[in-house]
Amino acid sequence: MEEKTITVLGAGYVGLTTAALLAHSGYKVFAIEPNPERLDVIKTGKSFFYEEGLDPIIKTAIDNGSLIPTNSYEDSVPSSSIVFSCVGTPDNPDGSSNLTYVFSAAEQAAGLMQQGSIFVQKSTVPVRTGEKIIELFESLGKTIPYVSNPEFLREGTALYDTLYFDRVVTGGHDQKAVNTILDVYRELEKERDTIASLAGVNAEPRKGKYIATSLNSAELIKVTANAFLALKISFANSIAKLSDSVDADIVEVMDAVGADERIGRAFLNAGRGYGGGCFPKDVSGLISSGLDNGIDLEVMQAAQAVNRSMPGYVVEKLKKHIGELDGKKVAVLGLAFKSGTSDVRKSPGVAIANVLSHAGVTTKAYDPQANQEAKQDLRRDVVLTDSHTDAISGVDAVIIATEWPEFKDYDFAALKELMSGDVLLDAVNIVEKTMIESKGLVYIGVGR
Ligand code: UGA
Repeated sequence: MEEKTITVLGAGYVGLTTAALLAHSGYKVFAIEPNPERLDVIKTGKSFFYEEGLDPIIKTAIDNGSLIPTNSYEDSVPSSSIVFSCVGTPDNPDGSSNLTYVFSAAEQAAGLMQQGSIFVQKSTVPVRTGEKIIELFESLGKTIPYVSNPEFLREGTALYDTLYFDRVVTGGHDQKAVNTILDVYRELEKERDTIASLAGVNAEPRKGKYIATSLNSAELIKVTANAFLALKISFANSIAKLSDSVDADIVEVMDAVGADERIGRAFLNAGRGYGGGCFPKDVSGLISSGLDNGIDLEVMQAAQAVNRSMPGYVVEKLKKHIGELDGKKVAVLGLAFKSGTSDVRKSPGVAIANVLSHAGVTTKAYDPQANQEAKQDLRRDVVLTDSHTDAISGVDAVIIATEWPEFKDYDFAALKELMSGDVLLDAVNIVEKTMIESKGLVYIGVGR
């Protein structure tokens, strides 16, 4: 076992980002990816998803030998002093997390880990999962220090969030192991400006905290943080619906409400609701954890219900302006669940396109990064276009469904000329109403 060798299990958004960054902080890092196509892409020095700044970090680390992509536990785990688990946790049909990969990765690694090496859980798991993994290790006759180290990075700003973190949380029964993992992040912090400059990402320091907790607290911190952010969004969307009926403007309302430091402006942007691989899953995961322990988290059930209503609410707003949907033509701009990523998991833009197409609308869709990934989730009759102008030409209405900055910079007068109708529904409230109206378009927002 070599002290400065780490294995990262799973090279998805979290795993690959973590592996690439640690490879620039003085560690030799094995990144395990079982999917052969994805592994081939990573070996060429690239990620298989779009994340700004990540490719140069991967490429230089592979070239200098500090990052080694592999599919082999045998070639990597035995020589590593730390194993980070970043495997996927898909949804079960009942909304709970499917932990098959979490347990199988832990079991496979445990069989190969040397005495004294530490197992770190970065995958988002329900509270008390760590206790079960420790029991699994014991049943295998292994005493392996287990540390929960939840991840708070956002897709699209993964490097910035990891380098200039708000907090690093580690929890576990073994204090020495907890401190060793905090030290790994201290090493990363030393290199962060150099890495940021190589990646071309913003190097704006945050006053990050190092927080050591109990194992169960660390697990609960992760899902609670995501659930609270999701709650803020659903709260904003509830008030947006009221704003629509009383002719107020949700952006004005939340700008002023969020100016209260106790509340904060972040995550109060109303629109088509939240998507992605985290919020929808973590909200239902937290509800399930509550029910498993006899606690009814009604507030989160309400947040979930509001969120599920939002794509339909957007389409209903459109209907009020353009009338019966059947036979109409509509363009949906934005299929990624948010800007800065090609990820379409639980994407509201995809949901909106599918609702429209189901209602008999000829639907065209375009995303600057996510067309390819959206294909499999879109109804077959939704037409994907290579450019926003192709999507828009001849349509009765355009819906902006992702907050891509470039959508704000379009020449809206020229777009209007391409359309056959004149309705612009801004489902993420990013464009200026007065500017849109000055171009001869009818502006509809969510809650404004
Ligand atoms: C989220 C958390 O923000 C991260 O801290 C966490 O590490 C991550 O989940 C995770 O668990 O791995 P992410 O899913 O990448 O990150 O995306 P966010 O930027 O949080 O956005 C989530 C969704 O909320 C997007 O669909 C976004 O458009 C929507 N949103 C966000 C709103 O509708 N309104 C807002 O005000 C903010």
